[in-house]
Amino acid sequence: MAVRRHPPTRTYAAVIISAILLIYLYSNFVPTERQYHALIDDIDNSTLGFQEILVVGLPSRTDRRDGMLLQAALSDINISFVDGVSGSSIPDKAIPATSEHERMNDASLGSWSAHMNAIQEVVRRNLTSALILEDDTDWDVRLKHQLRDFSLSTQALTQPLLGPSEAYADSTYPTPSIDSPGVIADLSFDLLPTTILPEISPYGDNWDLLWIGHCGMHFPFEDNRLVPKGRVIHRNDASVAQKQYLWTLNIPFTLKERYPEHTRAVHHAQEGVCSLGYAVSQKGAQKLLHEIGLKDVTDGFDTLLRFFCEGAEGRKRHECLTVQPALFQHHRAAGPLSALSDVGDHGTGFRDVSSTDMVRWSVRLNADALLAGSGEIIDQYPDV
Ligand SMILES: *[C@@H]1O[C@H](CO)[C@@H](O)[C@H](O)[C@H]1NC(C)=O
Ligand SMILES: *[C@@H]1O[C@H](CO)[C@@H](O)[C@H](O)[C@H]1NC(C)=O
Ligand SMILES: *[C@@H]1O[C@H](CO)[C@@H](O)[C@H](O)[C@H]1NC(C)=O
Repeated sequence: MAVRRHPPTRTYAAVIISAILLIYLYSNFVPTERQYHALIDDIDNSTLGFQEILVVGLPSRTDRRDGMLLQAALSDINISFVDGVSGSSIPDKAIPATSEHERMNDASLGSWSAHMNAIQEVVRRNLTSALILEDDTDWDVRLKHQLRDFSLSTQALTQPLLGPSEAYADSTYPTPSIDSPGVIADLSFDLLPTTILPEISPYGDNWDLLWIGHCGMHFPFEDNRLVPKGRVIHRNDASVAQKQYLWTLNIPFTLKERYPEHTRAVHHAQEGVCSLGYAVSQKGAQKLLHEIGLKDVTDGFDTLLRFFCEGAEGRKRHECLTVQPALFQHHRAAGPLSALSDVGDHGTGFRDVSSTDMVRWSVRLNADALLAGSGEIIDQYPDV
């Protein structure tokens, strides 16, 4: 039987067309898919999708460094330490003062200086981003999962919607206009809009600071003209403790009063208290040097962060996103209360039982089970 052969020109044409088709498919489809998976999946990496994790604290508190290192190892993450500073060693000249006021107390100055050292390191080493933690924090065994949910939420709030014109799911983003409403409809975590995928950070390409460890935060105030109002509301988040276990320094506690049990919210920061854990982008770190390192040091570091985020006291407003309840919380180790903090005076007395505020599956408190590899995780705040 005669073999039927295609004329050579037809073969060449077919090859060329297939090649063009393949290149087209590859450049339009494959890289986007690859990029998407790579970036959001980076949250599973040993630095939680940031370039590095820095832990700030006094080198003399070796107990805390032991604790942080153990927690990091049990969570499969890599931390490095930045040395805290004792406030009394800081000369007046090194503290920017552009108005007349008293020198802050040594504890607050030491904390400010230690955090500035961490931020300086991010800039000096040109890190694309870093997570900065205080050395007495703890987190949930499910941290990576929580951060993935957080990143989907921050992307929904700050990445442009997929579509022909540049628009955002939060109509008051990036800046509310004069006639913007004070409240806008909540975005449901279960029904997030499709946005353009970020290219630099899994948390979005346009943030300065992610304030994810704090002891109090407000939703953006209705009458605030500068802070965008969007909220992503994540109902039935099993890692959120029941309301009876939640507390805040910011009253009213709107999350608890207005939303159902087990709700987590992601939004722009307003009146944050405590700098237990926050991430900075490279741009954010540079802006922090400019706005907090080099401008009038009138208040504690967390208050200065608030000015930075909200555009107060001679600072511009910056892109600061947050989450309630926070993902990094204070760990209070059993022992004499005087050991609790090198900042405040916690008096005499003794704590019998270690605890971590609001964290259900605390890594620290489940160290036995995690080390055993097979032990059962204990819920610190079981539903009743
Ligand atoms: C983790 O992911 C981030 C974001 O892509 C990246 O910058 C960082 O280098 C990664 N860390 C490691 C240890 O691979
Ligand atoms: C942790 O990170 C540091 C600094 O990036 C690096 O030198 C070190 O090799 C990392 N350690 C592990 C166990 O990955
Ligand atoms: C810092 O890194 C960025 C890319 O992440 C690069 O474009 C820039 O040139 C770097 N700057 C320095 C001083 O190396």
